[in-house]
Amino acid sequence: MVLHRESPIGVFDSGFGGLTVVRSLIDLMPNESLVYIGDTARYPYGNKPADEVRDYAVELAESLVRDHGAKMIVVACNTAASVALDVLAASLSVPVIGVIEPGARALVRVTHNGKVGVIGTVGTIASKAYDTAVEATGAEVRLTATACPGFVEFVERDQTDGEEVTLLASRLLAPLQVAGVDAVLLGCTHYPYLAPVIQRVMGNGVVLVSSANETAFAVREALEHRDIAAPSDAVGRRRFFSSGDVDAFAALGRRLLGPELGEVSAWMSGASS
Ligand code: DGL
Repeated sequence: MVLHRESPIGVFDSGFGGLTVVRSLIDLMPNESLVYIGDTARYPYGNKPADEVRDYAVELAESLVRDHGAKMIVVACNTAASVALDVLAASLSVPVIGVIEPGARALVRVTHNGKVGVIGTVGTIASKAYDTAVEATGAEVRLTATACPGFVEFVERDQTDGEEVTLLASRLLAPLQVAGVDAVLLGCTHYPYLAPVIQRVMGNGVVLVSSANETAFAVREALEHRDIAAPSDAVGRRRFFSSGDVDAFAALGRRLLGPELGEVSAWMSGASS
């Protein structure tokens, strides 16, 4: 299949989390066009069986390629990337980039004491994808991985600060404090929206790492390597789809991403969008 430089990059997540990656993609490559699907009708992915999440990921990625001519797929969801990246890479005719390897590389770079943490959904942590990715970096670090069930729901409810989420964070992050980590990877694309709370609970001596920027760098490198980066004078267009309530997606999405999030259209499972 011939990939065109002007074609959009396809990005998906279970909901709003992938917008953290979209922000970094826009900032780094404003000339690239993007198509984003937030699968809010079926979120959260984090507590669903791996097979189910894999099926969703394949359906969303195939729709981005078939219906929107995506020249690359960015799996902006750790849960989906942890169980579906290999399947997508093997079955799609376009390059596929996930958030896990770029995040792991960034994590091992910033630690001073060699004790690092990763937080993610139950599905991501259970998949052990981060254990594998951190090991693959070859860095001599001790990784403590902790699931944070409930964090995603707070973000999707637009409750990114306050007593309730701080209490939950204090309880869930305790194992990382006990382990004495000096760097924590936000291994769920929703979590950067909770960064102020997580930073307060962990203390200022701990560096929080978001995979969004690292993923954007990996995307740029892959586009250039394949010679499919948009021309430098191209004007990036962005389209947003949600499988849930499109008005609710537009309202919260605009607050989280910024003014680039314009109109939101409906994406329906089992149909071409
Ligand atoms: N943003 C997602 C992730 O990175 C998914 C969260 C969810 O739907 O549970 O894992």
